[in-house]
Amino acid sequence: MRLQSCYNFQDFRRLAKQRLPGPIFNYIDGGADDETTLRRNTAAFEDCDLVPNVLAGVGQVDMSVTVMGQKLTMPVYCSPTALQRLFHHSGERAVAAAAEKFGTMFGVSSLGTVSLEEVRQHRTPQVYQFYFHRDRGLNRAMMERAKASGVEVMMLTVDSVTGGNRERDLRTGFSIPFRLTVGGMMQFAIKPRWAIDYLTHEKFSLPQLDGHIDLGGGALSISRYFTEILDPSLDWKDVEDMVRFWNGQFCLKGIMSVADARKAVEIGCTGIVLSNHGGRQLDGSRSPFDQLSEIVDAVGDKIDVIIDSGVQRGTHVLKALSVGAKAVGVGRYYLFPLAAAGQAGVERALGLMRTEIERGMRLMGCRSVAELSRENVRFR
Ligand code: FNR
Ligand code: LAC
Repeated sequence: MRLQSCYNFQDFRRLAKQRLPGPIFNYIDGGADDETTLRRNTAAFEDCDLVPNVLAGVGQVDMSVTVMGQKLTMPVYCSPTALQRLFHHSGERAVAAAAEKFGTMFGVSSLGTVSLEEVRQHRTPQVYQFYFHRDRGLNRAMMERAKASGVEVMMLTVDSVTGGNRERDLRTGFSIPFRLTVGGMMQFAIKPRWAIDYLTHEKFSLPQLDGHIDLGGGALSISRYFTEILDPSLDWKDVEDMVRFWNGQFCLKGIMSVADARKAVEIGCTGIVLSNHGGRQLDGSRSPFDQLSEIVDAVGDKIDVIIDSGVQRGTHVLKALSVGAKAVGVGRYYLFPLAAAGQAGVERALGLMRTEIERGMRLMGCRSVAELSRENVRFR
């Protein structure tokens, strides 16, 4: 299978699976516990039908949106994800370059493998995804650094104060940096192209955290990072202090309840991302799309409501925008193409998404995102 024969999420996933060692593929692909939330995230879109209008004169279609003060030429952005250079040697560099080409926003993770300053060189709105560590000095230093580098949007992830139970990772022993255990060697041996790619490029590092967190020279599982290094005592007061200190666009990623959405408004956030972390944290959690209308009804006129988790198609995006989301984040949708083919893969995926949205808007009779409304959807 080749990149040119990939037309959708499942195609990219299949190609990534062919290329990646099993533990890495499963780290990206997997969710928590029984993966019920992971499955529901995408299935939720199937319980909603689009109701098109016709003869609307859709010669020109404008899919641009403005979210948290950032103008995006398409309503889909690359949600921050960890460890991208493990998936393809070009990692965040490829994703940032592709996002720039498509005029959309790109998130750098606290667990990113390229420095935020380097990816900052791309002229595209940049999000810095923040994990709140037990070491408050580190948190302050990270915020100051992000500010100095000109990051547009601070995004604090709030659904990960402890690690989700990712049983696939427990089975494979997935850890960072990737360790050449005997089992790992076997995986390398059967995926030689990935291994050569990994071994012939710069050494793995976590530039957002290096110099602050000592990985002890050993391997750290994602679950241990969440559980031992992040601060579970994080509360609304801490976030309020952060918002004040940042003094700019600030959003919370991982809000699900109306009560929390209201608190986010009260403490001065400018955005919330309705997310369950792609089904990787609390299994059994409701899907963001199922929860979207409740949140939009409560706070949609006071704060930018964004959504991620489970989005694989242009029509999923149109449904979310119709219900009231301002923009839509994707994770695995660009990670599998990254793993499959680096920047060319991410560009192909974003290009297909843009075409699907444009086609969908024409078929829906909508010339701009503002014309999408609840009139365009019905729930079964
Ligand atoms: C993530 N996600 C994530 N979120 C975050 O705030 N910080 C991070 O470092 C990561 N890392 C990460 C790694 C991998 C491999 C995945 C798949 C996801 C969550 C991500 O930003 C987003 O919320 C989900 O990926 C959305 O779900 P979909 O689009 O993957 O279904
Ligand atoms: C994950 C992280 C790192 O979901 O957020 O694996």
